[in-house]
Amino acid sequence: MTTMQILETIQAFREAHAGLSGTLGFVPTMGYLHAGHLELVRQARAECEYVAVSIFVNPAQFGPNEDLARYPRDVPRDLELLRAEGVDLIFLPGGDEIYPPGYSTYVEVESMNAVLEGVRRPGHFRGVATVVCKLFNIVQAQRAYFGQKDAQQTVVIRQMVRDLAIPTEIVIVPTVREVDGLAMSSRNVYLDPEQRAAAAVLYRGLQQVATLYERGERDATTLRTELQATLAQEPLAQVEYVSIADLVSLQELDGSITGGALVSLAVRFGRTRLIDNVILEPQA
Ligand code: PAF
Repeated sequence: MTTMQILETIQAFREAHAGLSGTLGFVPTMGYLHAGHLELVRQARAECEYVAVSIFVNPAQFGPNEDLARYPRDVPRDLELLRAEGVDLIFLPGGDEIYPPGYSTYVEVESMNAVLEGVRRPGHFRGVATVVCKLFNIVQAQRAYFGQKDAQQTVVIRQMVRDLAIPTEIVIVPTVREVDGLAMSSRNVYLDPEQRAAAAVLYRGLQQVATLYERGERDATTLRTELQATLAQEPLAQVEYVSIADLVSLQELDGSITGGALVSLAVRFGRTRLIDNVILEPQA
């Protein structure tokens, strides 16, 4: 195991990487790490000789009314956690390193703007694709690890990598959950105790849909209605959308599900917006 190196510039990162020989696994993050991030790091650690993690709160993926200013940050704690996981390289750039004055190149996966989060958060995936593309160019990893919790983000990244022939293999890691099923998220810290307890309804609803599907229910509208009904039982949950969508195009499904589906939702508890999902696997 090497000592963890913390690199703040592109040049310093490239020099440090040049000193390593072997496969590099990359985990891009916006910091404020939780067990979900650490799971990505562990998988990278298990599959690659070296592991790099970036910590960068990417302004380009926040809308004007979103939580960029109050997004939680704790870099010293993040570094301690990553050191304990045996991470080799940390890329910790300042804003100007990624978006220097005069910056004007953006990456957009156009088909994703018209569905789910793409509609509700205009510009979000443009920001994600742009920063991930740039980070991939800097880090030059063989594999990169993303969590299934951000389902549409995984579809955006896979499409971008395919379209732009980026030679990084994308690995998707299952969502890590709290004991009551709430998906790990840096935004969970915003929830007050009452909202936190209420938020367990998200996974409860998703699980019910998965169980109905396993028992043979295939009608997308019925499954969507069941999920809406479960969420409606929780007075603190303000539902933004529930969706049963095609696994690849993310277009809404009606009628019988034949090729599996992504069941996803966005729900607000007070000012905090949470997303979650489960996959209904295609059945033979
Ligand atoms: O999932 C995240 O934390 C971010 O969207 C990512 C991939 C690090 C890009 O800023």
